[in-house]
Amino acid sequence: GAPVTVTVDKIEPGQQITVEWRGKPVWIIRRTDEMLENIEKLSPRMKDPESEDPQQPAYITGAQRSIKPEFIVLVGICTHLGCVPSYRPEVAPADLGSEWLGGLFCPCHGSRFDLSGRVFSNQPAPLNLEVPPYRFDDDATMTIG
Ligand code: FES
Repeated sequence: GAPVTVTVDKIEPGQQITVEWRGKPVWIIRRTDEMLENIEKLSPRMKDPESEDPQQPAYITGAQRSIKPEFIVLVGICTHLGCVPSYRPEVAPADLGSEWLGGLFCPCHGSRFDLSGRVFSNQPAPLNLEVPPYRFDDDATMTIG
């Protein structure tokens, strides 16, 4: 599949956009400072907090899993059985509980991920969501693939 170039500077803080790459949905989420703080708080609850499983580009390390902290790029396919999770950025919605700090929720078997795409411990999904290869061409533009 061909690389996909995306303009990212118009994405609002807290907003998610979806682009298609190799027939898959790829999400770009522009994270707020509060979201980034919440990601750090959630590390002890994660299955693979440092993303040590070698499923993503080598430059994706640590809790933030990104080149620039404000932008997270994820393949929008659950690592359990391939459903498409939904973006649930709000903190503590009634249906997800008071401990929810915003993330991605898979409706098929309930896997929960944070806003770095890291899977919580004791969820059916075995791995963090995949980060595709990408780079920044300049401050406004990113190329995926
Ligand atoms: Fe997502 Fe099973 S496919 S939890």
